[in-house]
Amino acid sequence: MSPLFSLDCTVAISGGGATLAVGMARGLLDAGARVAVWSRRADTVDRALSALNAPQRTTGAVADAGSLAAVRQALAHTEERLGRPDVLINAVGGNLSAGPFTEIDIDVFRQTIELNLIAGCVVPTKVVAAYWIDRGVSGSIINIASMSSYKPLSRVWAYGAAKAGVTNLTEATAKEFAPHGIRVNAIAPGFFLAEQNRRLLIDERTGEPTERGRQVLGRTPFARFGEPEELAGAAVFLASAAASGFVTGATIPVDGGFLVDNI
Ligand SMILES: NC(=O)c1ccc[n+]([C@@H]2O[C@H](COP(=O)([O-])OP(=O)(O)OC[C@H]3O[C@@H](n4cnc5c(N)ncnc54)[C@H](O)[C@@H]3O)[C@@H](O)[C@H]2O)c1
Repeated sequence: MSPLFSLDCTVAISGGGATLAVGMARGLLDAGARVAVWSRRADTVDRALSALNAPQRTTGAVADAGSLAAVRQALAHTEERLGRPDVLINAVGGNLSAGPFTEIDIDVFRQTIELNLIAGCVVPTKVVAAYWIDRGVSGSIINIASMSSYKPLSRVWAYGAAKAGVTNLTEATAKEFAPHGIRVNAIAPGFFLAEQNRRLLIDERTGEPTERGRQVLGRTPFARFGEPEELAGAAVFLASAAASGFVTGATIPVDGGFLVDNI
């Protein structure tokens, strides 16, 4: 394996039970990494660990990524089981509602910001970056952005605002942590079928794309949804200091061309 893309590191994935996270975890394991799956529910941790099927190089921790104490515990558990994490992937997130702006449910709007920005980026970054700075570790943080980080997508107001916040914080924290040798980048997936968006994109009764699903496919030059494993290459690149040691503050789209669609 090329030394650029072979990993001897421990990767903690916050929201590691997520569909996209498991796809990235497979690629990271194949490249040689050890992987800690942090997720809010024990059943999603167990499901991810059994899908990964690499008991010697994986561990799981039940942790709400919005809780500083829970993330600190997950970090300590990971260090004990797999060694000190050198890479953090912030994969917690998802869309919770869609509709006209005037009908926004403010509580759900707040929950979406909490989920995608506070749990999905701020809390794990704060805990893990402080831990690295104390120990002089040149770690790598990989945030998960979205197509809505670049341009708002209609009807998903809070999700778009939160994901724009994720790319903003990717750049801001990249600058903040650079003197410590810590890199912060993001991957912006296009459209992948996952638990949180399946009903928005696929009609459960027919298995066919919904109207929104058809709109997405019509604006994706590759004319298909992505497969979770297709995020693994970008994750391995950003995790590898040998491959991306001078890359920080960048967001890499993996989107089948969604961002370059035109008439
Ligand atoms: N699926 C897509 O098309 C797509 C596109 C762009 C970005 N994303 C982003 O990718 C990331 C992964 O999403 P997915 O689509 O795989 O979703 P998913 O629904 O499969 O997974 C979300 C996971 O987050 C976990 N989770 C929720 N709240 C949590 C919390 N507070 N603490 C810990 N874990 C928590 C859930 O248990 C679940 O396992 C999210 O940030 C999402 O916004 C997804």
